[in-house]
Amino acid sequence: MVPDKDAVVLEGVTRTYLAGTEAEVVAVKDINLRVESGDYVAIMGPSGSGKSTLLNLMGAMDRPSRGRIIIDGTDITRASNTQLANIRNTKIGMVFQSFNLINRMSVIENIELPLVVRGVPPKQRRMLAERLLDELGIKSKANRKALELSGGQQQRVAIARALIGDPPIILADEPTGNLSTSDTNQVLEILDSLNKEMGKTLVVVTHNPDVAKHAERIVHMRDGQIVEVEEA
Ligand SMILES: Nc1ncnc2c1ncn2[C@@H]1O[C@H](COP(=O)(O)OP(=O)(O)O)[C@@H](O)[C@H]1O
Ligand SMILES: [Mg+2]
Repeated sequence: MVPDKDAVVLEGVTRTYLAGTEAEVVAVKDINLRVESGDYVAIMGPSGSGKSTLLNLMGAMDRPSRGRIIIDGTDITRASNTQLANIRNTKIGMVFQSFNLINRMSVIENIELPLVVRGVPPKQRRMLAERLLDELGIKSKANRKALELSGGQQQRVAIARALIGDPPIILADEPTGNLSTSDTNQVLEILDSLNKEMGKTLVVVTHNPDVAKHAERIVHMRDGQIVEVEEA
């Protein structure tokens, strides 16, 4: 079977929130965007412009209020909650600014977590997690608690967790936002290799133009809309 050439397609996507008694907030408005398999896309824009909302929609973490979203060939607009969870678990790896690791669990347990959800046997998931730890240069940290690691190391653990289920699409929301310059460069090197060597489709939200420059395409957002698409 030929893999679908489109990783994520958004057609006329709007997401509104009801904010208490106030008027509804339009977080993203009428977005049309096509991310092809193997693309490397950066999303930039001021705080509140809808970047995280857009990324969460692309990762099946949320549903649009209007419009259509197709992830790796599946229209999620009408998918059941079970189907949505299944897409998140098999198609998407998410990486966040604040790492979102479980602090009381060890590094290796954090990385294995997506495979626990999938029901992969312990021996097999341990082997896969150890291989990733090795590749990301943090093998010696396997049994430490996540919180004991530096920011750059924690983000590498989070990337390993995103990768362990071998999803075709990696979505990162300000992945270097809390990191030093040298940790930023290390994480960027890893993200670049995910795209270039492993062929992952990569979408990175960032405030940092030096980070965005690594992408093939930069999508600029303002007030919930795409205002410019820059090709590298
Ligand atoms: N869960 C929510 N409830 C209400 N409003 C929200 C929610 N999430 C985001 N928003 C609003 O939607 C807009 C876009 O937010 P967001 O996508 O987080 O922007 P960015 O990531 O670019 O900073 C903002 O006005 C924000 O306040
Ligand atoms: Mg955000």
